[in-house]
Amino acid sequence: MRSLARVGLALLVVLLMAPLARAGDGLALTPPMGWNSWNKFGCNVSEKLIRDAADALVSSGMKDTGYEYVVIDDCWQVRRDAAGKIVADPERFPSGIKALADAIHAKGLKFGIYSDAGSMTCAKRPGSKGHETQDAKIYAEWGVDYLKYDWCSTDGQDTRDSYAKMSRALRASGRPIVFSICEWGNSKPWTWAQGIGHLWRATGDIQDCWDCGASWGGMGVVHIIDLMADLYAFSGPGHWNDPDMLEVGNHGLTLAENRAHFSFWALFAAPLMAGNDLQSMKPEIRDILTNREVIAVDQDPLGMQGRKVRDAGAHEVWVKPLADGSRAVILFNRGSEESPIAAPWEDIGLFPGGKALVRDLWKKADVGSFTGRFEAKVEPHGVVMVKITPQF
Ligand code: GLA
Repeated sequence: MRSLARVGLALLVVLLMAPLARAGDGLALTPPMGWNSWNKFGCNVSEKLIRDAADALVSSGMKDTGYEYVVIDDCWQVRRDAAGKIVADPERFPSGIKALADAIHAKGLKFGIYSDAGSMTCAKRPGSKGHETQDAKIYAEWGVDYLKYDWCSTDGQDTRDSYAKMSRALRASGRPIVFSICEWGNSKPWTWAQGIGHLWRATGDIQDCWDCGASWGGMGVVHIIDLMADLYAFSGPGHWNDPDMLEVGNHGLTLAENRAHFSFWALFAAPLMAGNDLQSMKPEIRDILTNREVIAVDQDPLGMQGRKVRDAGAHEVWVKPLADGSRAVILFNRGSEESPIAAPWEDIGLFPGGKALVRDLWKKADVGSFTGRFEAKVEPHGVVMVKITPQF
């Protein structure tokens, strides 16, 4: 009787675990990290640019801090041949995509590429509509590890079906390929894309500015932060909300804003795809992109997206629970004056009367032991980002 009960219990556990096992293919268990050509270079891509970026990823120390995928965005492709095979620009990529992928792999990095679910990409190059299986196969032959899949020229197409089609084609290719869905959050992909893609854009295109906006849907960093605020329940290992690639180091943000931008992407457990010119990056930008303590918040194995817990107009407190029982906390000052901002323990899920150790992740220093709350002065458009560990 007892062994029957045991078998029953084991069966129940297997049944309960089955959906989890199906959803996860072991890819992107922490948010993908890398570099993508679009934000800085747009259509001005070439094999030299991509190789130089890969070299700089290594020499800058970024590879050592976890940046892995080197992704060519739009404009590498020019046409299809008579057999329908996608053709890379022969002038800009004279050695071909396979040779480029091999060179990236030889540096210990991974290689990513871009296409579109419609007939044309956003820069009017050939899209993958009707060629999904053929494209996925060639990507696998080339050694592609990551596909960003856009949503231009898709009139009349069903979003979920179109992305599911490419997802199936990638799986059938036999190569593990991270699938990055890019339809700008239009159809709320967080409600349907888990198990289809590993990450999905949650917003319009990021712009190199703090709070600007563009009529076509481009948006500055703070607007993206606000759009991400309510999506924390939908992110986790293997399925991430993507607030778009980083603008850190692209000249439109002050140093404080760059730090705030990077801090929030880490708190969101966002993919960290650098989007700047790595070869000419200033030391203070490299210091932001390679801050191991902030990156550790992003890459925390629990994979929880942080959320806003206190909103007092220009002053906010955001928190992300970490696997070791501590909390990453951002004190955020949207205003134009330096101001003190406090995080009371009850807001961040700690015992109100308890003691906790506070470490400043930008100063890379312990601040001390505090009881009940932590308060710090925060610069305009800036953050103080701390790790708060309860002391028992
Ligand atoms: C869309 C995407 C961008 C970029 C461009 C390329 O706008 O959202 O990230 O890939 O297309 O044309």
